[in-house]
Amino acid sequence: MYARPRRLRRTQIIRNLVAETKLDQDMFIYPHFVVPGKGVKDPIDAMPGISRFSLDELIKDVEVGLQLGVNKILLFGVGNEKTEDASSAYAEKSIVVETLIELKNKFGDDLFVATDVCVCAYTTHGHCGLLKDGSVDNDSSLQVIAQMALAHAEAGADMVAPSDMMDGRVGAIRQTLDKNNLTETGIMSYSVKYASSYYGPFREAADSSPGQGDRKSYQMDFRNSKEALREAELDEEEGADILMVKPALAYLDIIAEIKQISNLPLACYNVSGEYSMVKAAAEAGFVAEQELVMENMHAFSRAGADIIISYHTRDILEKGWM
Ligand code: PBG
Ligand code: ZN
Repeated sequence: MYARPRRLRRTQIIRNLVAETKLDQDMFIYPHFVVPGKGVKDPIDAMPGISRFSLDELIKDVEVGLQLGVNKILLFGVGNEKTEDASSAYAEKSIVVETLIELKNKFGDDLFVATDVCVCAYTTHGHCGLLKDGSVDNDSSLQVIAQMALAHAEAGADMVAPSDMMDGRVGAIRQTLDKNNLTETGIMSYSVKYASSYYGPFREAADSSPGQGDRKSYQMDFRNSKEALREAELDEEEGADILMVKPALAYLDIIAEIKQISNLPLACYNVSGEYSMVKAAAEAGFVAEQELVMENMHAFSRAGADIIISYHTRDILEKGWM
């Protein structure tokens, strides 16, 4: 026997030498929830370690995070004013706009801020678009989504991240931004977003559950993968700067396929339910948290993700798990 693969597994140094996948702190983006008020630090029950912050508390938390190397965040606003037409989503003084202005004043380009662009936290019905005759209307929703993206871009967002899955949203946003001379603001598109039960804990955090029905008429069917390629291609054509697959763990095949067909940077979103499952199993003593988390992160990278959006980011960097 001449060929012995085990030779390359003998010591930790050799294993590190030949490791095909290596993670880097630059890959990680940490999600943050901002709520109205002052002095609010409201833990999310289903997501141990994650809280919703009011602006003043968020600033403090971001400051601590920055010292640990958490220099990229994805910001979610939780609106307290919900209307049928989602008008508070693109208001000049929306919670996200206020937060962006403050963050950019304080941290400038030391902090990268992408903002989630979607109306579900601002509509009475909780859908990601506007309703017309009881169903989510694509083209009128585009207007609102583009206005929301514009408000964020004007307030200093480095990138906007549309998560609504309406057709043509990337093009509509790009056009609106360009028309307003915001040609430098990027679009990180939730290109391939599946209708998933893994979003459960997030909907509690963002108070964004649909009151009636589900999101299956706009988010993707988990039985499909060719359709994912089509979504990614369309976003690229429409001017997306970064593509994203969401969720991540059950969709590694999709990450790998999209990596093959696009030269754009590819992100994956390790979503709330994926985080909660790991946390719950770890708290029950069923799994070793650090090892499990790092196994998952390497799996994303091995599949082809260049960027990982994860609630575990803080633990990974703070506790030196990398
Ligand atoms: C809003 C949005 C959702 C997530 C990100 N943006 C929820 C949904 O579409 O229902 C999920 C994030 C997570 O679960 O961590 N459109
Ligand atoms: Zn939404």
